[in-house]
Amino acid sequence: MKTVFDFAPLLNPTALQPYGLPTFLNAADAIAAYRGDDQIYALYPRKIEAAARLFLGGFPGHVLYAVKANPHPSLLNILWTEGVRRFDVASLREVALVRDLFPAAELFLMHPVKSRATITGSYAQGVRNMSFDHEDELQKIIDCTDEASDLHLHLRLALPKKDTAMPLSGKFGAGLEDAIALLKSARPVAKKLGLCFHVGSQCLDSGNYHAALRYARKLVDMAGVQIDSIDVGGGFPVAYPDMPIAPMETYFDAIRTSLTANGFDGVEIFGEPGRALCAEGGSTLARIELRKGKDLYLNDGTYGSLFDAGQFAWKFPVRLHRNHPPAPAANQIGFRFFGPTCDSADTMNGPFYLPADTCEGDWVEVQNLGAYGQTLATQFNGFHSGHTVAILED
Ligand SMILES: Cc1ncc(COP(=O)(O)O)c(C=O)c1O
Repeated sequence: MKTVFDFAPLLNPTALQPYGLPTFLNAADAIAAYRGDDQIYALYPRKIEAAARLFLGGFPGHVLYAVKANPHPSLLNILWTEGVRRFDVASLREVALVRDLFPAAELFLMHPVKSRATITGSYAQGVRNMSFDHEDELQKIIDCTDEASDLHLHLRLALPKKDTAMPLSGKFGAGLEDAIALLKSARPVAKKLGLCFHVGSQCLDSGNYHAALRYARKLVDMAGVQIDSIDVGGGFPVAYPDMPIAPMETYFDAIRTSLTANGFDGVEIFGEPGRALCAEGGSTLARIELRKGKDLYLNDGTYGSLFDAGQFAWKFPVRLHRNHPPAPAANQIGFRFFGPTCDSADTMNGPFYLPADTCEGDWVEVQNLGAYGQTLATQFNGFHSGHTVAILED
């Protein structure tokens, strides 16, 4: 693999085996061994394993990993090794990616609007779980699967807007009246029928799951249709600076309690965490190309893996790596970041707190970027990176 030769020396060639990546004890070792000029993406397998164990051990239902959050094959392999067997996929390419890696995986095509080729191709690759939020989409699924009798259909509900950093009900989901009609028309054609929703990514209030499940109860009662499953979606949050979160158990308890309170104990339960399974397991190591006062120009930015830092002004945790003396200053000051492209939108206001003497040639590690970071990176202006490493220690 080409990237291996951009790093020397490797910790130990056998350490490559589990992850298929250049593997180092820590980020400083990876930087010291790096011979390339681009940013480096780091995966922390231990953190990904810990997140998988937390969900597999605590979530009151089946765990589907939302592949869109980070489709890196090494990350998928870590999740599989930990026991994740179900995957939420959105496109034919994601279907093919997971199917090639894990022929025995159960795939859930949970994008409510799919091309006909995606439905046909996914069904041919064994996908039986699909979501819909409109009568015409339901008909497309029926047509493109030749009226299959083995489908598990998931009706996507629109939820009232609540306290999430990224609401996801504006674009997809059926409203109450439409949902009632859709449940009735889907029941006769579905082997299994369920409800699904997404409370919004980075959901800061576990009560939103309560509200969604109460709403699901009301809907099912009004429709008078029996359902087989509920998929509570993603939304499980990650602690970013300025965004303190309750422990994940609070969310699991809220869902468990609410399922019972609303009479859903007998139905099959699914959850689709993306961010919470991979955010803490990924970092970007970006080199500082220039310092102007309190502005740092990096070789990664809004058009790279730092989209959320620019677009949504998220203050990701940062730390400095310097591989030469003197040691960085003890006092810290707040910096603004600029990415490498020519667009002035490539600005990340932060502030990001780093040692006061941070300078050109130092590396900034932007942490908690394993979700919706590398996967959103473009190749704009020719700035991108094919270098991902595994880091064994924090
Ligand atoms: C259908 C669906 N499921 C799961 C997810 C993952 O959400 P999160 O990363 O907030 O857990 C998303 C995110 O957009 C989604 O659209």
